[in-house]
Amino acid sequence: MPTIRLGPCADVPEGSGRTFVAGGRHIAVFCAEGNFYAIDDKCSHADASLGAGEFDPDTLCVACPRHGASFDVRSGAVRSLPAFKPVASYRVVVDEAILFVECPD
Ligand code: FES
Repeated sequence: MPTIRLGPCADVPEGSGRTFVAGGRHIAVFCAEGNFYAIDDKCSHADASLGAGEFDPDTLCVACPRHGASFDVRSGAVRSLPAFKPVASYRVVVDEAILFVECPD
């Protein structure tokens, strides 16, 4: 499976999220308790940036900044409306403090 380099782990501080643009994709990455999670940045409801949403490291969910739908950053599953379709999730690999994600072709 192709691997895409995103950037330094330090770019995603503990308890936060941000969006990376790499390999022609927008990928939102979140950090909780030293673990990193990656999902598609684009909300499945109306295209807002999930990397700009409010991330709750306790529930591992991010709230879309536009209408408030909640997504589980581990799986991309919807946890609350108005979105009802999941977003893709990606396996994160850390190599020498650099974040990579495995993406399907
Ligand atoms: S754009 Fe995300 S909930 Fe509407």
